[in-house]
Order: sequence, then structure tokens, then C-alpha cells
Amino acid sequence: MLLSPFMREGMMPLPVAFISTMSRDGVRNIAPWSCVMPVLRHLDLIVIASAKKRDTLRNIRETGEFVLTLAGTDLKDKVIPTARFSPPEVDEFTEAGLDEKPSVSVKAPGIAGCYAWMECRRVREYEEERFALVLGQVLRLEVDDRVLKDDGSLDVERARPLMIMGGRKGMHFCTLKDLDAYEPFGAMFPDGKDPLERLYQR
Ligand SMILES: Cc1cc2nc3c(=O)[nH]c(=O)nc-3n(C[C@H](O)[C@H](O)[C@H](O)COP(=O)(O)O)c2cc1C
Repeated sequence: MLLSPFMREGMMPLPVAFISTMSRDGVRNIAPWSCVMPVLRHLDLIVIASAKKRDTLRNIRETGEFVLTLAGTDLKDKVIPTARFSPPEVDEFTEAGLDEKPSVSVKAPGIAGCYAWMECRRVREYEEERFALVLGQVLRLEVDDRVLKDDGSLDVERARPLMIMGGRKGMHFCTLKDLDAYEPFGAMFPDGKDPLERLYQR
């Protein structure tokens, strides 16, 4: 079956992160965000895609910073309230009934009750007529100890990362349940060794 090309995101599960920012005047803002991508393996960069009319984008441009918060499925009830239009002067933490988790490297706070927080600095932007891609550097990545396994990887059964599967008329909230076969990165290379391995040893 051929689908309309704009249905591309409905064919892949996407994360639902929350981006928190602060306006120049100190008003706290939150928005759910799915167009989020780490740039390659073992770099500290991420890209977020933003429509032009977003308080989030304006705040990032004004302050040069944002916090990308990763939530579990228990925050699914906060997605629609924070996605609805809210005037820029309204504090969206208060409006959504969410508490802040103070940040260390940036002024914008993260959201309490989530499992990971990336404090980011805007590095560069790519702008088109209808959208912008913001390249951010993760200055600080903090993860709740309770969702980490002994080897430092994410325990997805505990974290229950919030995700969506989009459709024509809406989206299903979902999470990751079935971890299948494991392969070391080295398996991709002829000598079986991961050339980036030493970078992970810290
Ligand atoms: C699950 C979900 C994911 C979203 N992802 C994005 C996204 O990646 N980029 C974007 O520009 N808007 C996205 N939105 C829409 C914004 O969250 C929404 O327009 C919000 O009101 C923007 O708030 P702001 O104006 O305070 O930035 C998403 C909405 C939902 C419900």
C-alpha cells in the first residue's frame, strides 16, 4: 500500500520528551517534543526540530539554553495540557501542575519526577521557511539512579520511557517493553572491536 509521504512519522515510534525553557523575563515554559535526535554515537550533540511559532523556540533563541527532560509513561497525562496553546506570559509549570527540578548548568529548570535531564546550550540553528533545526550541546546529563542498571544502562522496565505511535487522527502513548537480542557495537567491525570503546570508559 502506498501512503501519503507526510505519514512517515506514523510508521515509527517516537520518544516524547519535554522541553523546558525560560523566557527573557523569567517565565517558565514546557512543551512536549518528539522530533528529537542525538547526533551520532558518542557526541554530546542533539538536534530538535521546531515549528516557527513556538514559545520554546523563541525562548531558546533569547536565552541560548533549554532542558530536555525524559519522562516515564506516568507523565502521559501532562502531554496534552502542555501541548495546548498557552500565552507566553503564563507559567506552564504552574499551569500543568508540575514541579521544577533546578538545573546546574543553565537557568531553565528541568521537570521533577522524570528519569533523565539534559541541560543544553544552543550551538547553531538551521532555518527554513516553516521550521528550524536547533543543534544543542548537552552540558549536563543526569539520570535518576533508580532507573539505572549496575552496568550504567537504562532499566527500561523501571523507567518506562514515554513514547508515541502516531496515526492518522491521533497518537497512542506507549513504552518499550520487549528488549530483543543483544549485539556489542564491535560486531559491526571486521576485528570485532568497537573503535569508540575507550570513549565510554569514564
Ligand atoms: C507528543 C507531541 C510531540 C510534539 N513534538 C513537537 C516537535 O517535535 N516539534 C514542535 O515544534 N512541536 C511539537 N509538538 C507541539 C508542541 O508541543 C505544542 O505546539 C506546544 O504548545 C508548543 O508550546 P510552546 O509554544 O510553549 O513552545 C508536539 C506535541 C505533542 C503532543
